[in-house]
Amino acid sequence: EDLDVEELAEGEMEDAEKTAPARYDGAQLWRIHTSNVSNQDVIKLFESQYDGCVWKTKDDFVDVFLEPHRQEEARRALRDFDVPYEVSINDVQNLIDAQHRSREKKPRRDKRQAQASHQLTWDSYHDLGDIYGYMRTLSQKYPTICKLVNIGKSVEGRGILAMKVAGPKSQRVIWVDGGIHAREWISVASVMYVMDQFIRYWAKQPAHIRSATWYFLPVMNPDGYQYSRTTDRLWRKNRRNFGSCHGVDLNRNFDFKWTGVGASNNPCDMTYRGPKGLSEPESRSVAQFMEKLPRKPVAYITLHSYGQYVLYPWGFASAIPSDHRLLKQTGLDAAESAKLIDGALYTVAPAFQPFGAAAGGSDDWAKGHLKVKYVYTIELRDKGRYGFLLPTNLIRVTCREALTMIGVISKASLNVQ
Ligand code: ARG
Ligand code: ZN
Repeated sequence: EDLDVEELAEGEMEDAEKTAPARYDGAQLWRIHTSNVSNQDVIKLFESQYDGCVWKTKDDFVDVFLEPHRQEEARRALRDFDVPYEVSINDVQNLIDAQHRSREKKPRRDKRQAQASHQLTWDSYHDLGDIYGYMRTLSQKYPTICKLVNIGKSVEGRGILAMKVAGPKSQRVIWVDGGIHAREWISVASVMYVMDQFIRYWAKQPAHIRSATWYFLPVMNPDGYQYSRTTDRLWRKNRRNFGSCHGVDLNRNFDFKWTGVGASNNPCDMTYRGPKGLSEPESRSVAQFMEKLPRKPVAYITLHSYGQYVLYPWGFASAIPSDHRLLKQTGLDAAESAKLIDGALYTVAPAFQPFGAAAGGSDDWAKGHLKVKYVYTIELRDKGRYGFLLPTNLIRVTCREALTMIGVISKASLNVQ
């Protein structure tokens, strides 16, 4: 009963194949320092006057994406208000091109070749077809410890593929996902990397890893991921069609405090929460699958980018759960282990703190609804130099940071039950 992964990666691609890819020639990313002004004022000004698109907001800065024809006016305004800023990305299209250059166009595989084994590398980003193909290869090569599970179907009909990894001693359940947000490619690569390491070197893993049953879901949002590869590199949401606009932010669609702050009810917004909680097949499949697991997970780890944060609940409001000390300490241990890899600093905080409260996240759902003990949203590299466009030469080191942090959380989770 082998899954036809070629088919599962395909989907009825609506208009994506017909539309010419979005181009961002001359577009820039600015970091605006806001110690003397309010973030909200800056965001309002840039969104309303200069078509700015906020990539990240923190207490003392805002990262804003700007099209070329708006930069001059915006520059003047910042000068008039005496607000300092610097250009983080000088030409967004250049960076996008650099990422695509590292993936050579392959001839389309025919059906027979498609059955041959796939190999994945950690020095470029990969298509959904290659990711699913490699997952099948692993599941065929290591049938005793891993199993491919199709947990559902996306809006455009793609499979949502997870990998169960477990040995004879495996008991408690740990869930790891990535690719909720389409453009956060490094989160997909990192889930694949950790899964690959565990499967190929299972016997060498420490006991706390071998005593867990792992579920890896590298691409929760397969339509969005493919769309970000073929058509718009900066796409975030899923690909639900609302007529004039597309997409629900899956990380605002989970059904815990769903009507709360930090989520939009406008389908044209980046953080549209959807018409109701778990309205989307992608989030619903994950929620239903996790609820039906024979054992409740002891840890839920969801990878995003960017900013280098280890975040624990809550995200929906300025509040912390009663076990926040434990969550914080384990987060600090995880960040400490990441630092040992290459010196990168990860900040540990409750999820509402760095970017402001936002309801409907998968993390809050795991903690609040499923009552999972160890819940983390990890924002991977970088801190804003490249943002979502993390260069391919930083994939591997970031993956290694994810691996060690997940290991630390796994070890800590031994104390549950
Ligand atoms: N950058 C992530 C997002 O916007 C952070 C999520 C943190 N968790 C939360 N429930 N707000 O989706
Ligand atoms: Zn994200």
